[in-house]
This record gives sequence, C-alpha cells and structure tokens, in this order.
Amino acid sequence: MDETATITIDGKSYNFETFVGTEGERCIDIQHLRDITGCITLDPGFGSTGSCLSNITFVDGARGILRYRGYPIEELAERASFVEVAYLILYGELPNRIQLLNFRNQIRMHAPIHTNLEHHFSGLPHTAPPMAILSAMLNLVSCFHPEVLEVPTTGEEFGQTASLLLSKVRTVAAFAYRTATGKPINQPNPNLTYCGNFLHMMFSDPYVEYKVSPIIDKALNLFLILHADHEQNCSTTTVRVVGSSRANLFSSVAAGVSALMGPLHGGANVAVIEMLQDIKRSGKPLQHYLDRAKDKKDEFRLMGFGHRVYKNFDPRARILKKHVDEVLGALNLKDELLDIAKELEEYTLKDQYFIERNLYPNVDFYSGLLLRVIGIPLNMYTVLFAIGRMPGWISHWKEMHDHMQRISRPRQIYTGPILRHFQQISDRL
Ligand code: CMC
Repeated sequence: MDETATITIDGKSYNFETFVGTEGERCIDIQHLRDITGCITLDPGFGSTGSCLSNITFVDGARGILRYRGYPIEELAERASFVEVAYLILYGELPNRIQLLNFRNQIRMHAPIHTNLEHHFSGLPHTAPPMAILSAMLNLVSCFHPEVLEVPTTGEEFGQTASLLLSKVRTVAAFAYRTATGKPINQPNPNLTYCGNFLHMMFSDPYVEYKVSPIIDKALNLFLILHADHEQNCSTTTVRVVGSSRANLFSSVAAGVSALMGPLHGGANVAVIEMLQDIKRSGKPLQHYLDRAKDKKDEFRLMGFGHRVYKNFDPRARILKKHVDEVLGALNLKDELLDIAKELEEYTLKDQYFIERNLYPNVDFYSGLLLRVIGIPLNMYTVLFAIGRMPGWISHWKEMHDHMQRISRPRQIYTGPILRHFQQISDRL
C-alpha cells in the first residue's frame, strides 16, 4: 500500500498517512481531515471507522478467524481455563504456574461482597431483570471499594482491581439470580473453581448442596472463554467511550452491561431461544419464519444470524454447535430446540437471501442452547455473556488509558431547521 492516500474535494487534493496493522489490515489516518479540509466523514454504525489501535483481539471476518493476543480461539477453547484466558487478555501473555496461582487466589479472595451491599439485594423486586441488577450493582461495588476509584492503570494495583471485578461480577450475578427467584443468597465457596463457585452460588440450597458436575463446569468454562473479548463491538466500544471521559472502570463496565442487554447484541442469546420456542409452539413450517425474516415490512429477524464482521462463518458458533452435541451426549439428554436450530441453519444455507447477504449463525445461535442444556435459566444468559466479556472490557478500558486516548466525541451533520426566531405564545398560530 502507498504510504499516503489522496482525497480530492472540490478539485483540491489532500494527502493522508496510511497505517497497516500486524495482520495487514489497512487504514487511512483521517484524524486531521476536518482541520485540513473542513469536511468530516459520515459513517453511522461505524462500519468503516476504526476508533483505536488495539493489541488485544484480532478478528478476520472473511476467514472466520478470532485470536486473543495472537492465540487462536480454537486452541484456547480446547485447552485453556477461563481464568487463564482472562489473565492472557489482561496481561498480554499466558501466565506461568505461579502467576496463575496468584491470580486465582486474588479472584478467590475477592469473592465475598460487603454485607451492606448484600442488603441492597433484599430491597429489589423479584421481577427485576438480572441484567438491570448487574449494571446497578457494578456501580455500587465501587462505592464499597473507594480505593479502586483512584486506580492506577498500570502495575500490580491494576491487577488487583481487575481480579476484584472479575470476582465480584460473578458473586453479584449469582446473588441477582437468587433475588429474582426469592431464594436466600449462597456465600461463595473458596474451594471451588471459577465456574464451579458460580454454579454453587446459583443453585445450592440450604438442604441440598449443588454438586458441580465436571461436564457442566467445562461447558460453562468454554462459554466464558468464547465470550471473553471481541474487539470493538457495541458494549466494548461503550466501555471505551465512557472511560474516555476518565469515568472509573466500574461505571464504564456498568455502561457496557447496559449496551450488552439489547437483543441485537448480547440479548440475542435469549431472543434465539424465545424464537426457537415460538417455532416449536406454533407448529408453523420453518419457511414461514424465513419468509418473515426476508420481508422488509416485517420487523422480525432470524435471531442468532448475521454479524457485522463475520461474513463467512463465526468460529465461536462452530465450536459451540459441536460442544452442545457433546454435552447432550455426555449427559444423555435430547433437546428438541437443538434439532429445530440445526434444521433452521440448513434452510438458511440453501436460501438465496441469506447466501447473498452472508448471514450465518453467530455465537448467540448455539450459546443459548448450551446454557439451556446445562440448566442455566433463560434470564441469566445475557448475564453470563457479561461475566465472560469482563476480561475484554477491563483490558480495553486499560488500553484506552495506556494510549491516553482523547475523549470520544464524534461529529454530526446537522439536518434540522435553519435559524429562526422565538415568538411570544400570543403571536404563535
Ligand atoms: N435476519 C434477517 N435479515 C438479516 C439479519 C437477520 N438476522 N441480519 C441481517 N439481515 C439483513 C438486513 O436486513 C440487511 O438486508 P438489506 O441489505 O436487504 O437491507 C442485511 O442483512 C445486512 O444487515 P445489517 O442489519 O445492515 O447488518 P449489521 O452489520 O448492521 O447488523 C446484526 C448485524 C448482528 C445486528 C444483524 O445481523 C442482526 O440483527 N442479527 C440478529 C441479531 C443477532 O443475532 N445479534 C447477535 C450478534 S453476534 C453477538 C454480539 O455481538 O452480541
């Protein structure tokens, strides 16, 4: 690629520097475009806009590649633990034994939450959606740890803050579920794994201790790894935008949770299951749903299909599809919704509308099915996405600070009324 790109406006040419990333992605640096030319670029939805340089995650949508810090998602999903992957995303390198042990211990130590914070759960209605509770509580956690509001963004202290957040989010999420079901809270058990402890806090009862099955522990671990980061998606961009005003890490990730909630983003894992349940209940042929998805006058979309970046296949969906089958086999279960999902995928692969638009199952198409198989309640699916995404959000927040990114402040093109003058009410028609 040339070292400069030329933009011609009204016959006058301007040169701009170009930049190539380590994987060959190319960009034109237009940071000073407006100062030099008086023009801005218009890109609603940011489909062609890079907002930062980042070392964390590489996605190649055309080739279905996803790598955290250079490591392929397939290898991490097969062989790593979520805590190991969280360390990798946060620190840039895989931990050695001692580092992993210390990191696990930090997470373990931070698991309990302050009793006064715990009291807040009892004041919430049982109908409160766990995602709303999670967002609110993450802001509140920082009130009980004022030291983290002064967080240095580097070194040992940042590691402590990151492990605190990774740990508290899990406790708060489980407590939110217990609140929503009107059940007493289960305190964390330091002898369990990251996932095992979450399952215990969710499902143990005073008289029946939840026995963590290694199959379920592994499945949850895989789910969290696959969600750990995905570069500049809607929620991560939100975290970076909020953090760019120098808002603290906790407020920034709480905003990330709010962004994740929507059905076009993290909320899609719930929407997929609701759609499959509706297909099963209605007994209507799959073609009916395909036709609706293709009808531009109908707001219905096939949930769990399509992606801004992946235009061939989403590697996470492939891994999940295989794993749902394996877990069902290991637990000796069947799921009719999985059969419907597979059939729906088959239909879309042969349908011109979906082929032309490169619409394939995304991570959310099979992730909800995995959570369903391992007994996670529907209203917790997006919460689990948020727990999984936490290492990514924290790392992006830190990276944004390390790079001393300017406050995010896009421009706009105004299309409203031109100048007019105020009239007294008596003079208005
Ligand atoms: N069903 C039917 N048509 C679709 C779908 C779908 N699921 N997704 C995209 N299209 C069509 C869309 O109508 C448009 O058609 P046309 O060119 O004729 O106007 C074309 O495909 C391009 O879609 P787009 O909306 O411009 O694509 P986008 O990059 O802005 O949106 C998306 C990406 C993921 C929001 C969208 O594909 C979608 O709404 N999918 C369903 C919700 C979903 O599964 N979300 C989870 C995303 S993956 C995990 C995450 O990030 O949270």
